Amino acid sequence: MQIDAKEYENASAYKSLIESYAGKPEYLLAIMQDMQRQYNYLPRLAITMIAAHVGLPVSRVYAMASFYKAFSLTPKGRFVIRVCDGTACHIKNSETLLDQIEKQLQARPGETTADGLFSVETVNCLGACALAPVMVINGRVYGKVNRSDVERIIKEYGGQSDAN
Ligand code: FES
Repeated sequence: MQIDAKEYENASAYKSLIESYAGKPEYLLAIMQDMQRQYNYLPRLAITMIAAHVGLPVSRVYAMASFYKAFSLTPKGRFVIRVCDGTACHIKNSETLLDQIEKQLQARPGETTADGLFSVETVNCLGACALAPVMVINGRVYGKVNRSDVERIIKEYGGQSDAN
């Protein structure tokens, strides 16, 4: 698997994060969580460095990264937009939020905008059904949003109005 050149530039930052933990297998999850928090994904180079540090095979770290949904192996945008598509939100037209996001950012769930600013995801239930339809941006919850709210909110984060 190919390692991005930018990851080599970040190698010393990865190293100091990793070395703030003892080199023991029981710290694997904590290091991965810290790395995910810091970079919004698990860089491939960091994965090999983590494996070496805690003394486990690289395949084990990948297995862990694939198992837990909280980890991403691909870079995400600076802002992660999560649109709830659980039953309550679906009934309240969560689909129109996704349509507006796509129109405005040209990104569908699972995609990141070309400028690296936004990633779009869907989730099953955010536990705030009374506020349906709900979307969350970097942990901030927006409830009872409609299409024009979405447009305004995205602009607040630096996104454009409708592209066409
Ligand atoms: S279904 Fe959307 S918050 Fe519960």
